[in-house]
Amino acid sequence: MDSKSFKRWQQEVASAKLRDAKFITASGDPVEMLGTPEMIKDLDYDRDLGMPGQYPYTRGVHATMYRGRLWTMRQFAGFGSPEDTNQRFKYLLENGQTGLSVAFDLPTLMGRDADDPWSEGEVGVCGVSVSSLRDMEILFDGIPLDKVSTSMTINSPAIILLAFYIAVAEKQGVKPEQLRGTIQNDILKEYIAQKEYIFPPSPSMRIIVDMIEYCTESMPQWNTISISGYHIREAGSTALQELAFTLADGFAYIEAAMERGLDIDAFAPRLSFFFNAHNDFFEEIAKYRAARRIYARRMKEKYGAKKERSWMLRFHTQTAGCTLTAQQPENNIVRVAYQALAAVLGGTQSLHTNSMDETLALPSEKAVKIALRTQQILAYESGVPHTIDPLAGSYFMEDLTNKMEQGAEEYFKKIEELGGVIPAIEKGFFQREIAEAAYRYQLEIENNDRYIVGVNAFQDKDEKIEIPLLQISPEVEKEQVRRLQELKRERDNNKVQSLLKELKQAAIENKNLMPVIIEAAKAYATVGEMINTLKDVFGEYQESTDF
Ligand code: 3HC
Repeated sequence: MDSKSFKRWQQEVASAKLRDAKFITASGDPVEMLGTPEMIKDLDYDRDLGMPGQYPYTRGVHATMYRGRLWTMRQFAGFGSPEDTNQRFKYLLENGQTGLSVAFDLPTLMGRDADDPWSEGEVGVCGVSVSSLRDMEILFDGIPLDKVSTSMTINSPAIILLAFYIAVAEKQGVKPEQLRGTIQNDILKEYIAQKEYIFPPSPSMRIIVDMIEYCTESMPQWNTISISGYHIREAGSTALQELAFTLADGFAYIEAAMERGLDIDAFAPRLSFFFNAHNDFFEEIAKYRAARRIYARRMKEKYGAKKERSWMLRFHTQTAGCTLTAQQPENNIVRVAYQALAAVLGGTQSLHTNSMDETLALPSEKAVKIALRTQQILAYESGVPHTIDPLAGSYFMEDLTNKMEQGAEEYFKKIEELGGVIPAIEKGFFQREIAEAAYRYQLEIENNDRYIVGVNAFQDKDEKIEIPLLQISPEVEKEQVRRLQELKRERDNNKVQSLLKELKQAAIENKNLMPVIIEAAKAYATVGEMINTLKDVFGEYQESTDF
């Protein structure tokens, strides 16, 4: 680059009058005004980028990427009774969705049955109510489990919901080895961000490794964890914290599985990740590209993985719920479109696009169809999927990708100094980092250093919400409780009780819990009964508060 013209440009910029704005990313970092060759003069294509489908996978995990197969359009869905959600699944599949994703209600997420006093008022409200195999049979009625891939967003009770899924498949004549899908099963991010934990870290990690061990042997197509950054970001972290903390969690699971003696090349290919797609377009793309490179390098160099599939970071993306506004909700369609574009330019394998109404209610049919159509327009009209990693080689993008990788390595050092992820959680490290980032972001909005259209800029006076909103009837709770009590009367309670005793014994004796939980599921033992049995052995986690 001609130094004279660069100097002239610098002088012109220095004397120019710039807009009165803070040129920072969503994470609060200063943004380069211009990318130049100087910024990436040390970039080595083969070392730092590689071809798509080749180490270190910076450009994507497959040689052909979206020319071979588009990302999976996988809308997170669940509300009300299993019948309600079953209908929504079929509606989405009829409208072109290519993967299922189950959202469970809070009682299910917390391991409580619909008739638990703590569940009152929450049954079917933020997801589908599932207390037993009976609910799961209705949820997947008419959906061939050998033909779909299903994601289940469930963490502490994940092992039980996976057992329900296996049992439903068996009733359809589908074997575990035929099942494709993912279970979130990521407890570390619950301690860090979402707080939907039940047991203390050690037994929680043990249960997760039980599932990795079982699935590696019996469910070769099943992704055993969806190591999630989404909720870390939704809690207010920066993009870099989301990247670093999520990868650190992933490495903690890998080390736990290796400590049990599992072969990294046997289980690593079925680990997967889940990231947020937030508002800062370029920062998000750099985050995904850096994630693949960091993961590939550490899996190969630090953990000694030999299989190429062990080096590949495959991920799902959900557009950022925390960026949606209740004001002028139709604007969210635009925000989601930009965020989805970033995820696709970043090489995601699977994508959920938020609905415009999600700050106000669970998605209506109209809103979720627009969200799905957003993906289909991106896929079939924009032309973006035709070219792999088109931003590669951009001075600005490669510099941003490098900065993400360097920043993550600095966080890994801090986490190691604290003794690893679990000690860092117990010291409140992640929680404090996220709280400070969230505070800074909110302050920027309140000081008008950051405009949110419709919220602190371009507001509508006396705005009325005109879009349709989904209502969850209180009848759902009554029906779920009635159905559960009927189930408990009809099932073989002696068999259930003896299997719950077996479960307790297996927990005490450190046996893999999957087999006995599958048997208990088939006998119609409930989520609550199995979780309470495990609570007797493992106790419940109490987070220390940190101000
Ligand atoms: N060339 C060759 N093969 C290709 C290809 C290409 N270009 N593109 C895809 N394929 C192959 C893949 O390798 C795969 O085959 P394999 O299983 O034998 O490897 C097959 O085609 C399917 O492709 P993917 O596996 O990439 O796509 P999936 O959609 O099946 O899986 C995933 C994607 C990220 C690996 C998986 O883990 C997944 O689906 N995750 C979704 C998680 C999810 O939906 N989470 C939602 C959580 S909601 C939440 O938590 C928020 C709430 O709490 C608020």
